[in-house]
Amino acid sequence: MISDMFTVCAIAIFCMVSVGHSAPLACEDAVRPLVQLDPHHLEGTWALVAASLSDPVLLEFFKCRNSSSVNFSNASATSDIVYTPSVNAGGKCHFQSYNVSLEGSILTFDEQHQVNLTGIFLYTSCPDCLVMRFDNQLKKVMRLHLVSRRREVEPKEMEEFRAQVECLNMPAPVVMDPSKELCPEQSQNIIQPNQLMSAL
Ligand SMILES: *[C@@H]1O[C@H](CO)[C@@H](O)[C@H](O)[C@H]1NC(C)=O
Ligand SMILES: *[C@@H]1O[C@H](CO)[C@@H](O)[C@H](O)[C@H]1NC(C)=O
Ligand SMILES: *[C@@H]1O[C@H](CO)[C@@H](O)[C@H](O)[C@H]1NC(C)=O
Ligand SMILES: *[C@@H]1O[C@H](CO)[C@@H](O)[C@H](O)[C@H]1NC(C)=O
Ligand SMILES: *[C@@H]1O[C@H](CO)[C@@H](O)[C@H](O)[C@H]1NC(C)=O
Repeated sequence: MISDMFTVCAIAIFCMVSVGHSAPLACEDAVRPLVQLDPHHLEGTWALVAASLSDPVLLEFFKCRNSSSVNFSNASATSDIVYTPSVNAGGKCHFQSYNVSLEGSILTFDEQHQVNLTGIFLYTSCPDCLVMRFDNQLKKVMRLHLVSRRREVEPKEMEEFRAQVECLNMPAPVVMDPSKELCPEQSQNIIQPNQLMSAL
């Protein structure tokens, strides 16, 4: 009986592997930065679908949120873009706006914010997603975010993101619960300084 189940499982796995066969991208292609990103494309709100964080302390903190989204506004030019992550946690919505600029695929935070991270937009085959990598000042990858105009993506798109996370040797991603409400329009709650990193 047990060995029958094993056989069934083995066949099922084998079938999934062979049916779902399409050559995975090599890592260098999977994590390549976008060559050019039209700032207009960023405008508006994106739901956080999944994220990987390298810092285990921030990761625990991160898991305490119900949902998260980012809003890019004033994205008509590559400078003076306003980047507003919002976090729905502890029964409240928290927002913080940052002035950022975009150069090619690189998002730079205004120095006065002391965020000390650089955003890089990476390749994604998902048409309404952004994959954002955040590096610290030593160019170490700190986090990888998958955001989308949708609340959840197709399994294939999630697989692609997981592959990107693996290519960058990051911990397995946390997938957000799409049934949890996003924060509504921006209000005035300002994030506490110790929440900044995990709010991004
Ligand atoms: C919006 O962008 C324009 C130029 O692109 C800039 O002059 C203006 O200060 C920006 N507004 C905000 C609120 O950052
Ligand atoms: C998540 O949302 C529910 C209500 O939808 C609320 O009761 C709960 O406190 C929230 N949890 C967090 C961590 O914000
Ligand atoms: C962003 O830049 C504008 C114009 O320089 C400034 O008025 C605003 O206070 C800045 N916002 C933040 C969040 O730093
Ligand atoms: C960024 O770096 C500055 C100086 O190097 C430091 O004072 C600040 O606390 C850092 N910000 C964060 C969010 O770690
Ligand atoms: C995005 O932020 C801008 C500026 O704060 C605001 O006017 C706009 O309504 C926001 N968009 C959404 C969909 O929340």
